[in-house]
Amino acid sequence: MSNVAVDLNDVTKSFGSKLVVNGLSFAVGTGECFGLLGPNGAGKSTIARMLLGMTRPDSGKITVLGVPVPARSRLARKGIGVVPQFDNLDLEFTVRENLVVFGRYFGMSTREIQRVVPSLLEFARLESKADARVGQLSGGMKRRLTLARALINDPQLLIMDEPTTGLDPHARHLIWERLRFLLASGKTIILTTHFMEEAERLCDRLCVLERGRKIAEGSPHALIDEHIGCNVIEIFGGNPQELTSLIKPYVQRIEVSGETLFCYAPDPEQVRVQLRGRAGLRILERPPSLEDVFLRLTGREMEK
Ligand SMILES: Nc1ncnc2c1ncn2[C@@H]1O[C@H](COP(=O)(O)OP(=O)(O)OP(=O)(O)O)[C@@H](O)[C@H]1O
Ligand SMILES: [Mg+2]
Repeated sequence: MSNVAVDLNDVTKSFGSKLVVNGLSFAVGTGECFGLLGPNGAGKSTIARMLLGMTRPDSGKITVLGVPVPARSRLARKGIGVVPQFDNLDLEFTVRENLVVFGRYFGMSTREIQRVVPSLLEFARLESKADARVGQLSGGMKRRLTLARALINDPQLLIMDEPTTGLDPHARHLIWERLRFLLASGKTIILTTHFMEEAERLCDRLCVLERGRKIAEGSPHALIDEHIGCNVIEIFGGNPQELTSLIKPYVQRIEVSGETLFCYAPDPEQVRVQLRGRAGLRILERPPSLEDVFLRLTGREMEK
């Protein structure tokens, strides 16, 4: 088996006059969890659809599981499980029926489907809901069913577009645990998410997009080191402009977001000294996170 699951080479896509994916290249290794990050409209779902052969690129080359897409996307799809950004379950059918119908799409026999459905219900912790109509499920249950449905063909590659959006923290942790289990069993995952914690926990590597262009790529830790590299001090409760001029000489960089100042401070003590005795300020010092990287790369208001 090839050790490259997905390869995009100089892929471009426009809708009308709008360039949505701009000369994008990346490769995802077999067994990797690869995250696509980017603000709303950056092109993440368009890329997911192109990998599935549902949207045709204007130029560039895409290979998925060793076959060219879209030319042979029907073949590629046999090895892919998909969690679309928006659930497209059949609301009139029961949980079990949704799984059965999906299995038939993949040409599975009734027997094969009967064999895998119980483990999928267990995987999604939906055993007690097997005969409930999907329309009666909560949003989180529907999402878990969509995830279970994506596994019916035992895919090598999972393409998951915001699998945990709209879920409560319990349901999100449950899905993280399930995704880690899938990764441990050797699956490859391409994941889009707006939750930086999710990307940091699950992804081996990330590609950050802005307006269809790759603006950064690397492991979460490498990106944090490269783009932030020191502790962050958040300051709220004061006048951002005044505070900025006060502490500017003592930090590497300051950014203002709303009423909060984000200071990148190799020597946080220096900043604390400047702020000593000022009433009403709330000061939080913490290690840098992927969220800082995202906000920095995709434009938190820059002050310095
Ligand atoms: N079928 C289409 N026709 C015209 N424009 C489209 C179509 N699909 C997507 N777009 C546009 O392409 C851009 C990228 O959309 P896409 O859905 O890929 O973004 P995204 O990164 O998934 O965003 P989000 O985080 O909001 O899900 C947007 O400006 C969107 O309006
Ligand atoms: Mg999207």
